[in-house]
Amino acid sequence: MSQSKLEILLKRKKEISFSDYMEFVLFDKEYGLYENHEILGEKGHFITSPLVSKHFSHCIAKHYIKESTFDTIVELGGGDASLACDLLFYLKDKKELPNKYIFFEKSDYLIKKQKSIISEKSISKLVDISWVSDLKDLPNEAFIISNELFDCIPTDIIMHVPGGYQKAYINDDYKLDWKKLNFKYDPAFKDLGLPKNLPNNYIFEYSYAQRDIINEISGVLHRACFLIFDYGYTSSELYLKDRSLGTITCIKNHVTDFNPLSDVGTKDVSAFVNFTYLKNIFSKNNWEIVAFMNQANYLINFNILNDINVNDIDELNAVKKLIMPNHMGELFKVLIIKKNINETDKNYFMKNDIIKL
Ligand SMILES: C[S@@+](CC[C@H](N)C(=O)[O-])C[C@H]1O[C@@H](n2cnc3c(N)ncnc32)[C@H](O)[C@@H]1O
Repeated sequence: MSQSKLEILLKRKKEISFSDYMEFVLFDKEYGLYENHEILGEKGHFITSPLVSKHFSHCIAKHYIKESTFDTIVELGGGDASLACDLLFYLKDKKELPNKYIFFEKSDYLIKKQKSIISEKSISKLVDISWVSDLKDLPNEAFIISNELFDCIPTDIIMHVPGGYQKAYINDDYKLDWKKLNFKYDPAFKDLGLPKNLPNNYIFEYSYAQRDIINEISGVLHRACFLIFDYGYTSSELYLKDRSLGTITCIKNHVTDFNPLSDVGTKDVSAFVNFTYLKNIFSKNNWEIVAFMNQANYLINFNILNDINVNDIDELNAVKKLIMPNHMGELFKVLIIKKNINETDKNYFMKNDIIKL
């Protein structure tokens, strides 16, 4: 998408907030990156954990077996269906298949891809596979998985200024304009967990859309276990002085940059996930927090190290990438929450691995 394509958005809307912009460049049916380009894998822009190694999905499968009370798995934002395929083949071998696997996916391009891979691998012979386009159509009991969904959900950019806050809008010179925002009075303001002494001109993100998705899921799911994998921090780790320009991150052909207004529509745009914010919204919706930990500790708790074929150097290097602190082991986290589940043992994670939210 060229810069001039952005004029289409400027014509559609008088004011473009950053969340409007993100929605357009990522998900617009005609121009959005997720609708027109290979996003994931070597040929795409970036690689996610399920694509790094099948052992990531096998650990989730072990978690599903441990929970053992759900006959439906729901995946939100299933990408190229790698996670679904590896997880279901593992569960087949263990004779623990669910009855149903449901994808909730926004991108038509990826739905097509998921359908083609599911058919190629004959996964529908194992379980009933379906796609829903409205969260209201999900069942009210399920084991839910999302990997790197929340970081790409559109977010607004907000700046703390003397005496208040300002919100970013994109002007027709493709620059940011800042406009006054009565943010302190937003009912969800407290949920972010901003520090009291936030310096002036400090920039941070705030996603109304994340809140809406959580509220919507909570309205439908009555009994569930939900695993949210993503990169990010608790609020006390997120709002450090050295992140005073915010956390919007772009990636194009595996190269990272921090200017979402350059190369418009040809690169991925995402933001660090504030897990304190997610936790607070889930808690308001009567979910119980089971655990929050970094990806390495989660995978090690599910014995990823015992599963590796140590003679296979590629497999060894892939698992290293998932768990090493300088790769995906520490920045990536998992938030595990439950609703209306009393019967299973919650204490299967090592106490020292749990991060306080
Ligand atoms: C960064 S990709 C991760 C894909 C996959 N989970 C993985 O780890 O490889 C984000 C995924 O979430 C989907 N997605 C983004 N926003 C969504 C939304 N609001 N509802 C459903 N799916 C969404 C994208 O189309 C894509 O499949």
